[in-house]
Amino acid sequence: MTVTAIVGAQWGDEGKGRIIDYLAQQADMVIRFQGGDNAGHTVVNEHGTFRLHLVPSGIFNPHTRCIIGTGVVLNPARLLEEMAEVTGAGVSVDNLWISERAQVVMPYHMLLDGLEEGARGNAQIGTTKRGIGPAYADKAARLGIRAGDLLRPGWLRARLELALAQKNRTLADFGQAALRLDVLLEQAVGWGKALGPRIIDTLPAVQEAVRGGRHILLEGQLGVMRDLDWGTYPYVTSSNPIAGGASAGAGLPPAAITEVIGVVKAYCTAVGAGPFPVELHDENGARLREVGQEYGATTGRPRRCGWFDGVAIGYATWLNGFTGLAVTKLDVLDGFPELRVCTGYQHGSEILTCVPDTAVYEQVTPVYETWPGWQTSTENVRRWEDLPAAAQAYLRRIEELAGAPLRYVSVGPSREQLILMS
Ligand code: GDP
Ligand code: IMO
Ligand code: MG
Repeated sequence: MTVTAIVGAQWGDEGKGRIIDYLAQQADMVIRFQGGDNAGHTVVNEHGTFRLHLVPSGIFNPHTRCIIGTGVVLNPARLLEEMAEVTGAGVSVDNLWISERAQVVMPYHMLLDGLEEGARGNAQIGTTKRGIGPAYADKAARLGIRAGDLLRPGWLRARLELALAQKNRTLADFGQAALRLDVLLEQAVGWGKALGPRIIDTLPAVQEAVRGGRHILLEGQLGVMRDLDWGTYPYVTSSNPIAGGASAGAGLPPAAITEVIGVVKAYCTAVGAGPFPVELHDENGARLREVGQEYGATTGRPRRCGWFDGVAIGYATWLNGFTGLAVTKLDVLDGFPELRVCTGYQHGSEILTCVPDTAVYEQVTPVYETWPGWQTSTENVRRWEDLPAAAQAYLRRIEELAGAPLRYVSVGPSREQLILMS
């Protein structure tokens, strides 16, 4: 039996979607365990190129049961759009299921995400404005609407009445007009009708799969450096992308998870504000952005780019307990004569080798070592032994700094552009 959590080991956009799409060829079940449509998981395979926001990246295998888990915040309108896109490309969504306990992102959550960001002035987080923070805040405040509520109009009305009283007070503070209960109710009942039979108690299916020794993938969103507890707070998302969030969000015991794969780019990128010590403002940063096409899959924003951060990866391994690494986008480094790897953070006279709290993190400067580039294309390489020696040495250094074994090396966005370590 394998239950494998696939999680982001950096600031998000590491290539989780492409690794899950590959592994899902053999998976019985894929469960998205947190986040919402702030995710942009790119999958390139024989069906086309997809930027998935809510639909699990296992959807391309018709035999894989795909579950939007309890830990997710679900925007039903966006999901319906995405289902139409996927179906339009000839991919069935018959095997897509939604936990009735998943939270619903309501229109007021998106509205408030924008208003709250605006009110932060120059302390903006740079959220995706998808309503993620406000939806998780309501979940914690016990004011949330859950997917199952969409199927029970009487219960839904009572829940919405409660939520709306509070939301309308907040909206009035922002000088906004009050939202109408009947309008929202009609919209929400419509979503319930459209998604109806897919909204189920997912627990029996998950239990059966775990007990039956099935291959299960737990799909994480974002990465450890934006984890609500361990990321660069407050420049974080409002859920736990680390593996510790997977059991709660998917609905299985922690000990059922047999593998944790950390997906990690061969360099670093981040979207949104907050400390990012390895960021490059020079031509190397611009080159990483252009060659790696580093523009947000959800918002289209240019991603901040930098050298590989060996301190952050060690931190990520500790917090997630990686049993293996999937290093992606090695090919993006093909043309660089020289590469740098951050091995410590200078803070005053000290060298830190662990990620500190945000106020300190903002003040550190990276300490680098230099590695020779390989200056030859790797995109057609499919075996470790065919990689240039300099690329092998660079990857071994990543493995060493992470303290977790290399399992996959990705050399292009397509499903087959992957090297499997024996
Ligand atoms: P995710 O959010 O972790 O799933 O990652 P994103 O999809 O947001 O960002 C990864 C981007 O890199 C996507 O555009 C992928 O198609 C692309 N990608 C993934 N792996 C590779 C790779 O090995 N090489 C190249 N050149 N692109 C890749
Ligand atoms: P995937 O799953 C990269 C970032 C935002 C912002 C912070 C909080 O594709 O890796 P939020 O909208 O969640 O309240 O924003 O998190 N962010 C992402 N960055 N990839 C993502 O998802 C992201 N989801 C959120 O830019 O800094
Ligand atoms: Mg992404």
